[in-house]
Amino acid sequence: MTKPYDPADEGAQMSFDGRMAYGDYLSLDMLLNAQKTWTDTHDEMLFIIQHQTSELWMRLAIHELTAARAHLIDGHSRQAFKMLARVARIFEQLNSAWDVLRTMTPSDYTAFRDALGQSSGFQSHQYRQIEFMLGNRNKAMLRPHAHRADLVELLENELAQPSLYDVAIRALSQSFALPDAVVNRDVSEPYAPSPEVQAAWTEVYRAPEIHWELYELAEKLVDFEDYFRRWRFNHVTTVERVIGFKRGTGGTGGVSYLRRMLDVELFPELWHLRTEL
Ligand code: HEM
Repeated sequence: MTKPYDPADEGAQMSFDGRMAYGDYLSLDMLLNAQKTWTDTHDEMLFIIQHQTSELWMRLAIHELTAARAHLIDGHSRQAFKMLARVARIFEQLNSAWDVLRTMTPSDYTAFRDALGQSSGFQSHQYRQIEFMLGNRNKAMLRPHAHRADLVELLENELAQPSLYDVAIRALSQSFALPDAVVNRDVSEPYAPSPEVQAAWTEVYRAPEIHWELYELAEKLVDFEDYFRRWRFNHVTTVERVIGFKRGTGGTGGVSYLRRMLDVELFPELWHLRTEL
């Protein structure tokens, strides 16, 4: 009889007494003990893991966006582009994840929906941080976090910094004269589209070979927003499929609120200029 294959024969480490193992490095005990279900329904585990994994990917997106913005401020566009490409891939990943959640029917979900109380992704502080980082800044969205001073502080700190789009416009202003009211605006307020910014981006697209870095930056931003829009669309379609037109657990009109969010433009001039080309 041949001896069963033993990976130790080719050097696999089999003893971790006193050494750091895979589970230690990744804090797996903590991670895999965080799936606390509130009912004994089968699908609640899917619902929890779907949200938790989304939050983990968002955590990485924030990490990448933070570094990308810092690189752009320092004029290191190449490094920023690499990170922005990664963030777009993260959202692609999040988009594919809806296919798993779509296997949950309305009957499966209503069996545990009451256990959620008023909790909802609407209160995801990481999602709000991502929106604030990109440039969609609405201070009303701070209010669901008022009971958590640490989260309000985190989000307010974000509002005090220029968004990724503000930083992109400042980069644009190095090649094109832009109004001071745009370049040095109060970054904590929502961004209002500007004809001068659109005219400058249009010039970039008319002569990419002259403005290659700005052109590449613009396309990286559009690429990312494209994936972000797909995420919103996948979300609202999944929501309609699972709860129809019921109100959300977070208290909004549900699908009507999420459809309204489909109109949000993160980098407005970059989309509008296309009509002019
Ligand atoms: C069957 C599954 C889901 C349903 C029925 C659902 C339902 C809803 C509804 C109705 C809203 C609007 C706010 C409210 O009144 O509650 C909402 C918002 C939100 N949900 Fe979901 N959702 C689901 C899955 C997810 C997943 C997996 C995520 C991933 C993290 C997520 C993240 C969010 C976020 C970030 C918002 C805020 C969107 C914004 O303000 O623009 N949702 N969800």
